[in-house]
Amino acid sequence: MCEQNFRKMEDIATVDLKEKIAELPERGFLDMEIDPTLDLFEEIQKLKKEKNAVLLAHYYQDADIQDIADYIGDSLQLAQYAEKTDADLIVFAGVHFMAETAKILNPEKKVVLPDFHAGCSLADSCLPGPFAEFKAKYPDHVVLSYINCSAEIKALSDYIVTSSSAETILNTLPADQKIIFAPDRNLGAYLSKKLNRNMVLWNGSCIVHEIFSLEKITNLKEKHPNAKIISHPECEEAVLNISDYIGSTSNLLKYTISDDATEFIVATETGIIHKMMQASPDKTFIPAPPNNACACNDCPFMKMNTLEKIYLCLKYELPEITIDETLRLKAKKSIDRMMEISAQAGIK
Ligand code: 13P
Ligand code: SF4
Repeated sequence: MCEQNFRKMEDIATVDLKEKIAELPERGFLDMEIDPTLDLFEEIQKLKKEKNAVLLAHYYQDADIQDIADYIGDSLQLAQYAEKTDADLIVFAGVHFMAETAKILNPEKKVVLPDFHAGCSLADSCLPGPFAEFKAKYPDHVVLSYINCSAEIKALSDYIVTSSSAETILNTLPADQKIIFAPDRNLGAYLSKKLNRNMVLWNGSCIVHEIFSLEKITNLKEKHPNAKIISHPECEEAVLNISDYIGSTSNLLKYTISDDATEFIVATETGIIHKMMQASPDKTFIPAPPNNACACNDCPFMKMNTLEKIYLCLKYELPEITIDETLRLKAKKSIDRMMEISAQAGIK
């Protein structure tokens, strides 16, 4: 190719990239064409090496993303990994609050999220203005917030918790300590009942865990009487009441490995079943059905990530998570408390 033509192509590419960057706030990702002959697995591995990048994936990601990730975990494990990694670039195959938490813990690293619009119904349910008003009504309460919330809510909280650390953190507080729990009313109600603690609950919920059908799960159990029902505490009380085991994503995985049962009805996001099957290939995992026409339950936000978007965000290092430094430091305090208590308790 002559030099002039090459220059023209470079200009087109630059203009196109500029346009795509301008579209980012609305589009959420760099909506660019990818050469269909590229082997994305290979390209992603190559880029990771070149850029000293690490790909972190939540258990709810598609199987191919889990398979190419450097580290897979639940919310706490991902935060712990993000805090200690020596990579220069963190690509977070999860949702916005997870990547934001990684940035809060690791301000000197570049953190990118394949799709900026990968949000969370829990985080969306709890906005800083209304939450500050709610908090002001209970001045003598300590605020525990589930990690599924924005940096602004973290900054208004005393402790951040995840589903695997919440019980331990609650147990460090005096029995008569008054508590606000936000934003998940189902996790809050579960903890309140289990630990016999009266808590004021914010009225948020996870759209994925809230729509399991009790009737369909009961029907499945009749067909598979030896199957154990396992569920995430973000599920509604009626589903938790018929469950043999309730736990965070990583604890559900551990349970399926250690328990003698060979069949499990899994009431959480279906992505985790990939890991469960890999860990216990001789066991059967049946996704608990939601109360709609689908057979299984995918988180629409988690599933916004694709190999294509991961490739593009690794290549162009966009969309990038940025955070105001004053807000970051305020939000970090409540996350640090969780990280310290979890480390002391050996939760990982
Ligand atoms: P964990 O990964 O902490 O169990 O949380 C589940 C979840 O819904 C993440 O968004
Ligand atoms: Fe949020 Fe629920 Fe999706 Fe987790 S599964 S990211 S809590 S909407």
